[in-house]
Amino acid sequence: MTVPHAPVRGAPSGPAAFPDSPLACALRQPMLLGLFLPIQAGGWSASQLPRTTDWSFDYNAALVRKAEDLGFDLAFGLSQWLPKGGYGGVLNGQALDSFMALAAMAAITSKIILISTVHVLYGPWHPLHFAKFGATLDHISKGRWGVNIVTGHRAVEHEMFGWSRIEHDRRYELASEFIDVVQRLWSETENYSYESERWKLNNAFVTPKPMYGRPVLVNATGSDAGIDFAARYSDIVFMTSPTGSEIESALDSLPAHIARIKREARENGREVRALINPMVICRETEREAQAYYRAIVEHADPEAAPQGMGRFDSDAHAWRGRAGRDGPEHRALGGNIQIVGSPDQVANYILRLKAAGIDGVQLSFYDFKPDLDFFGARVLPLLKQAGLRR
Ligand SMILES: Cc1cc2nc3c(=O)[nH]c(=O)nc-3n(C[C@H](O)[C@H](O)[C@H](O)COP(=O)(O)O)c2cc1C
Repeated sequence: MTVPHAPVRGAPSGPAAFPDSPLACALRQPMLLGLFLPIQAGGWSASQLPRTTDWSFDYNAALVRKAEDLGFDLAFGLSQWLPKGGYGGVLNGQALDSFMALAAMAAITSKIILISTVHVLYGPWHPLHFAKFGATLDHISKGRWGVNIVTGHRAVEHEMFGWSRIEHDRRYELASEFIDVVQRLWSETENYSYESERWKLNNAFVTPKPMYGRPVLVNATGSDAGIDFAARYSDIVFMTSPTGSEIESALDSLPAHIARIKREARENGREVRALINPMVICRETEREAQAYYRAIVEHADPEAAPQGMGRFDSDAHAWRGRAGRDGPEHRALGGNIQIVGSPDQVANYILRLKAAGIDGVQLSFYDFKPDLDFFGARVLPLLKQAGLRR
């Protein structure tokens, strides 16, 4: 194996180090606000209660524009490669590709940061493709594009690409190598050659160079290997509650979990921000919010396996905390943690997440369009009053 130039290790100077980058501007907010776009059928909820939520581009384009108008900092899309029928029922697997869909959104927005989830080991992607495509999107979006780097936890997805699932920690080693090479291409001012068992580049060069060092880097994890990856590369770590979706238990378990991740990043001389994705059910009164929650649960879709639980073999660590804790009612609504209540109660939970060490919330809703409108009208002003948003 020849390695003519060693790739860059870690991610020392990301966009947060440039005061005028979209990420640095967003980080001046006391609490980052994101929208987890439903580019997949059913969003996160295995319920048949009627709603507008739709995976189509037009629906999601309208959502991202609305989120931008409301001053949201980020929008995210997930990535899934599921066999016919997906998770079943309303979670039938229809989904836009996150890389392509958010690339298109770059052209119809001007302020919001757009994070695409990409399985960097599938294909396999060549680092040169990824570096060129990412740099192009960085320029189209003027530094607003980022990538949530995932390695694929479901065996069935790897099999679709023609191999057996790669061992869990080995996937993070390969993702590290991949992103080291990509970063080298983003920063290198000369032609670059590299060779390993998996990737080979000969006098490779990428233009344009990203506007703020590199695009925003994110990874979503709960494992030791994934946290080590986050501490070395990510600006933002997308996390789950170690103890399931019930909000009070999440608030108890998150502080130690977040402190550990931030400590590991600081040991590498880096800062990583903690982002979590609550499912928000908010109505004018607690009673109405609880009634909405119960209606969603009562319409649970018996054909759908929420978030793939049990349907496909997954070796993800991030969701292990919910085994045996999250009952069917949690699974019908879905989401990582769940916040149900009046505008005051929802704002208060978000304040408590901040106190637990969370730097940003990436919101999901059951019925995205009206529920986002309601959040914007009734909860956002309270977050401003509480000093969480400027
Ligand atoms: C909040 C969150 C969002 C995720 N989104 C995706 C996704 O869109 N696509 C995917 O394949 N995996 C996704 N994952 C799974 C992770 O990428 C990862 O494969 C999984 O958590 C296993 O890694 P771990 O064992 O390090 O936790 C997500 C995980 C978390 C915690």
